[in-house]
Formats: sequence, C-alpha cells, structure tokens
Amino acid sequence: MKVKSDFLVIGSGIAGLSFAIKIANKFPDKKVSIITKGTKEESNTKYAQGGIATVYDLLNDSYEEHIHDTLVAGDGLCNKDVVKMVITEAHNRVDELFQWGVDFDKKNNGEYDLGKEGGHSKNRIFHHKDITGFEIEHSLLKIVMQIPNIDFYDFHFAIDLITEHQVYGNITALDDRKTAFGAYVLDEKTGDVKTFTAKYTMLATGGSGQVYETTTNPFVATGDGVGMAYRAKAKLADLEFIQFHPTALYNPGESPAFLISEAVRGFGAYLRNHSGERFMKKYDDRLELAPRDIVARSIDTEMKLEGKKNMFLDVTHLDYEAFIKHFPNITKKCSSLNIDIRKDYIPIAPAAHYMMGGVVVDKQGQTSIKHLFASGEVSRTGLHGANRLASNSLLEALVFSHHASEEIYKTYDKQYQLPSIPEWIDTSTDRNMEKILINHDRNEVKTIMSNYVGIVRSNERLLRALRRLYVLYEDNKRLYDHSELTSDMLELRNLITTAYLIVDFSKKRKENKGGFYSKDFD
Ligand code: FAD
Ligand code: SIN
Repeated sequence: MKVKSDFLVIGSGIAGLSFAIKIANKFPDKKVSIITKGTKEESNTKYAQGGIATVYDLLNDSYEEHIHDTLVAGDGLCNKDVVKMVITEAHNRVDELFQWGVDFDKKNNGEYDLGKEGGHSKNRIFHHKDITGFEIEHSLLKIVMQIPNIDFYDFHFAIDLITEHQVYGNITALDDRKTAFGAYVLDEKTGDVKTFTAKYTMLATGGSGQVYETTTNPFVATGDGVGMAYRAKAKLADLEFIQFHPTALYNPGESPAFLISEAVRGFGAYLRNHSGERFMKKYDDRLELAPRDIVARSIDTEMKLEGKKNMFLDVTHLDYEAFIKHFPNITKKCSSLNIDIRKDYIPIAPAAHYMMGGVVVDKQGQTSIKHLFASGEVSRTGLHGANRLASNSLLEALVFSHHASEEIYKTYDKQYQLPSIPEWIDTSTDRNMEKILINHDRNEVKTIMSNYVGIVRSNERLLRALRRLYVLYEDNKRLYDHSELTSDMLELRNLITTAYLIVDFSKKRKENKGGFYSKDFD
C-alpha cells in the first residue's frame, strides 16, 4: 500500500511535532504525514524534567555567558557558529512555545521562575514544575491535531529510508549524492509494510539510551534513526560521546530509571558518599554543578572506591515547601518508595541519558542525503561537542526544526517529481519465530554496552564489545532476512547497529573528551 505525502515526518517528539506545525502552516495545500511508533506521545520529550535553557532576561544574563557555558561543557568540540546561532535564537523559539500554549512556571511577582543546572553560570532554565517535557509534548500534540493538512499515523514503525538504492538497485557509485524519497513503514497493528513516499523527509526519531542496561530513556529510544541513516549511508559523527546523567534514582529493577533532575542540584542539593562526605570537592571546584561528564565520572569513581552501587543526593537542608512546589513529581516518586526527603538521602546512580552524536546536519538541518533533514536528538548539529550542556537539547530541536522548515520553504521546487517507487517485497518464510530470542538478544546488547562501553572504557573492553556484538548482528540478520517483521525485531536490529557504531567510533578516538573516557588515555 502506498501513502503519498509532500512531507514525511518520522517521530513525534519536540523535533518532529514542531517541524510538522511549521511546515504544515507554510504549505497549507500540501499534505504532511507524521508517523510514530507506539503511541503519539511516547518520546524522550515527554520525560524532560529540568526545562529549556534560554537567555530571556538580558539585564541579568547574556548570550555571551550561555555561549561560554555551552562551549566549556562541550570540551572544545562544539561548532562555535552553531552555538551562537542556537543561543541567540532561543528567545524567539521560546516565544513560539508560549504561542503554542506551553505554560512555564512564574514566581509570585509574575516573573518567570528560571532554574539552574550543572554547567550554567546563571539561572536561565524555563520549566513547568519538574514535568516540562510532558507540558511541551501535550501542548504541541494539541496544536498538531487541529491542523487539517497533517495526517497522524501512530503505531507506524519506520523500517528504512527509501533512496535510489531501493528505486534503481545497488548504485554504490552514487552514495555521496543520494536522495530520500520517503520510508518503508511497518503498520504495528496489521503487520503490513506500507510505502510512505514524500518529497521531503524529516528524521526526528530521538535517541538511543536503550542500548544500555540503565537509562533514563523510555523503551522507544532504540537508535532507529541512526540505524536507518547508517543503512542509507548518510554521514554520521560523534557517536562515541554518550552522556550519562549523574543522578538517576537508584531503584534496582525499575526500568527505565527515574530521573532526579539536575535542577535539584541547581536548587542546592548535595552529593554524598556512603560515609556522608560531600565528595565532589575532591574532583571539581564547581562541586555538584560541574558539567555532567565530570559529575558522572566522579560518582562512578566513588562507587568503585567504596564498592557500592549508588551514591546519595541530600536535600534535607533545603526549604521543603519550596522544594515540593518546584519538584512535586520527584517528591511524590520518593514518597512512593518510602524515601522521606526531609530526613532521608535519595539513592542515586548515573544512567545513560543522551547521545551527543548522530546524523550530521548543517545549520539548516540538511543531512548528507538530499531531501532528508534531521532534527533533535538523532542529529549531530555541532551544538553539544563532546558533552551537552543541561537543557540545551529541547532548544536545539526547536531551532533546527525551524531552520529546516525555512530552508524547504525557500528552496521548494514545484516541478520536482518523485521517481516510481517500488512497494516493499516481503521475503519472510518463517512465521513461527520464537519472540523470546529477541528479548534475550536485547538484554545481551545492554549488558555488553554497560559492561564494556560505559562511563569508563578501554581498548580491551571495546574489543570485547565488538566481538560479542558481531555474533548478535549475525543472529539478528538471519532473523530479519527470513522471519515475519515485528517492531521488537526491528528495534533489536537498530540497537545492535547503534551499539556497534558507538564502539566503532570509540575505537577511533585517541583522547579523552566529554562523554568519551578511556583508561588508556589517562
Ligand atoms: P523524542 O522526543 O525522543 O521523539 C522521538 C520520536 O520518534 C518518538 O515519538 C519515537 O516514538 C519516534 N520514533 C523513534 N523511532 C521510530 C521509528 N523507527 N519509526 C517511527 N517513529 C519512531 N533535554 C532538555 O533540554 N531539558 C530537559 O530538561 C531534559 N530532560 C530530560 C529528561 C529525561 C528523563 C530524558 C530521557 C531526556 C531529557 N532531555 C532533556 C533530553 C530531551 O528530552 C531529548 O533530547 C529531546 O526530547 C529529544 O527530542 P526528539 O524530538 O529529538 O526525540
Ligand atoms: C534534568 O532535568 O536533569 C535533565 C536535563 C537535561 O537532560 O537537559
């Protein structure tokens, strides 16, 4: 079955939804299709807590300071032009969020209640309590559902991008000037594979935290966009840089890990080890508010020194009423586990949180494949360098989705026609695949990545990871080639590919930077 659109948006987090709103409004007579796997709202966006970093109040803050903080966190690898562009545009993009109905917290005097997080020299984080992402996701969905030229397909899983490769056969010679014509998509409810054709495709599939055992990312974050882009031979970069959030709630058995926002440390919380010591003073003058890579590594070191699986966050000295007002969801979660934050320390441990690398895009969000744009966590824009500054990613998604829509509007060619695109060919012969094999393999990927490609790596560990991942790759390929397609199997395929790429990029890096740290370069 063919579904024809002018614009295909893959993913319904902040990147996909904000792009869809803009492009649909710019081209009211053209059709926009959004596809997303699972439910409409499930995404990393929905779980964002801290907020969105924006210099709004130029009397108390400045673009220069936010730019400086971003560059310091990025450990020398940010693209300065991109950093400047994103930070100076933040004000306009946040104004659009206001117009789309997003509600940010205000103080009693009516001014915005701006939070602070690690690496920020000023309070500049717009937030909605500690559920900012939920507020943004629902506000954007509400707008999208009212736009008549947008069709929304939930439970639709993008398998692969369509390029000349599918249309004309194996054309390796053309690899560096391919074009995207849409995607093959599994209807998760019927099992049919549909051919979504489009003049422009926006890849907004988010992150890949699920390659690790402990992650703050929901189950949908399986690196599908990286997998699809790699198979289509798009340019990728910086995949060795993984951000581990220092303070996920340590609650063995809970998956994904519940996040204790960095804004809690911005609010004055202390990190303590099992002896009760505020250990960050041993590691960095900025203490609990040092950039995330430093705090996560310090916690990892302390856990190894003490032989423990967690450290603690101490909020007992903070104003309880003010704390609950800002962090009601975190307080509720702690209470549900019998942690009384007025007297108990909160057990925490680092968890995989964010992928700095991804599909390389220019300032317009254009990838190395023509008519394929990317925005949000799947993309590598140059903003984050080796380590993302807290609360810069929602902002990045808004800015690049905006730029992509402007670029398409400027360059749209009314005469452009798609070639004739073949339908998906079903080669499956085995309808009785044991689904449990996929669960086993998924767990194995996570164990390999957590054991060998975590906060501290080494050449020996990377080699071990690579050898084990290769076995999983071969097993998954056999399943993929012969069995009925399911979203579990497709996710596993992308998890293995993304894990392999993280290892491969790590092996090529020769010095420690931000979210990449190897004992061999100590
Ligand atoms: P997502 O929001 O993850 O959306 C991706 C979409 O693509 C989803 O709808 C998914 O289902 C869909 N998808 C994926 N693969 C496929 C496929 N094969 N086919 C179809 N659809 C697919 N950042 C901040 O700036 N501030 C914060 O306070 C903050 N807090 C965070 C807290 C948590 C717990 C987490 C996990 C992240 C946080 N981040 C924060 C990071 C930020 O939330 C993400 O980087 C950002 O939301 C990514 O947006 P996105 O649109 O790129 O991807
Ligand atoms: C948090 O609230 O700590 C997450 C912020 C982020 O990841 O940017």
